[in-house]
Amino acid sequence: MRKPVIAANWKMNKTPAEAVQLAAEIKENLPYADGMSIIICPPFTALAQLARIMEGSPISLGAQNMHWEEEGPFTGEISPRFLLDLGCDWVILGHSERRQHFQETDEQVAKKLQSALSHRLNPILCVGETLEERKRGETEAVVRREILSAFEGIEADRALRVVIAYEPIWAIGTGETATPAQTAEVHSFIRDLLSRLYEPGLSQKVRIQYGGSVSPENIAGLMGEEDIDGVLVGGASLKAKSFAEIVSRSAVTKGVQTE
Ligand code: PGA
Repeated sequence: MRKPVIAANWKMNKTPAEAVQLAAEIKENLPYADGMSIIICPPFTALAQLARIMEGSPISLGAQNMHWEEEGPFTGEISPRFLLDLGCDWVILGHSERRQHFQETDEQVAKKLQSALSHRLNPILCVGETLEERKRGETEAVVRREILSAFEGIEADRALRVVIAYEPIWAIGTGETATPAQTAEVHSFIRDLLSRLYEPGLSQKVRIQYGGSVSPENIAGLMGEEDIDGVLVGGASLKAKSFAEIVSRSAVTKGVQTE
């Protein structure tokens, strides 16, 4: 059985002081569930303070991006070593907002994935199509291109540590969610792809999340799909109660025991 994985992507929201307050509220409201991975990805500027708050809690810390090099003349960039030093276990890579607004390429995302895995950071690799691509029937072609590029040269034991987030771009921040069935179809396509790249058993072990306007209202339907192992939550993770609700409803749907 794959361990459900729920991640919060706070994007460019919350000053360090506001982040501390939200993290404390989430910690207070969150059900304790050993059988789930719960990850919060605040802005870089709040990582150090959140690491202290999360200590001893079941919540892991993640960053929203990183450079692939360890150090050097890369003004404004953050290295995997800095993230480790700040207490991060996770890093989101190739989010569509980075691909769209900052021209991140498949090649750069692949370098970041290799680097994160070598530094023992667990990556959440985002893939997904735009509305135009979906309308043109290119969803599978886009997801295939992004997955093949990212996993090139990644050995099986490392591939297992990657969480894939399928995030249809048209569903991000729009209030429009892909239906559980639409999502499950792409998730099963991704598993099929992985079973061709690696031995078939591996594709059954890799965790695949859905992301795009996830809310307490639609979480049960999504998590009810066997192929959906978790969610990457943007807007709804900025309110402690709604994020906690998403976690507890996920636990119930997946039959995970909480305290
Ligand atoms: P959203 O963002 O939940 O606000 O749609 C999801 C994401 O971008 O990861």
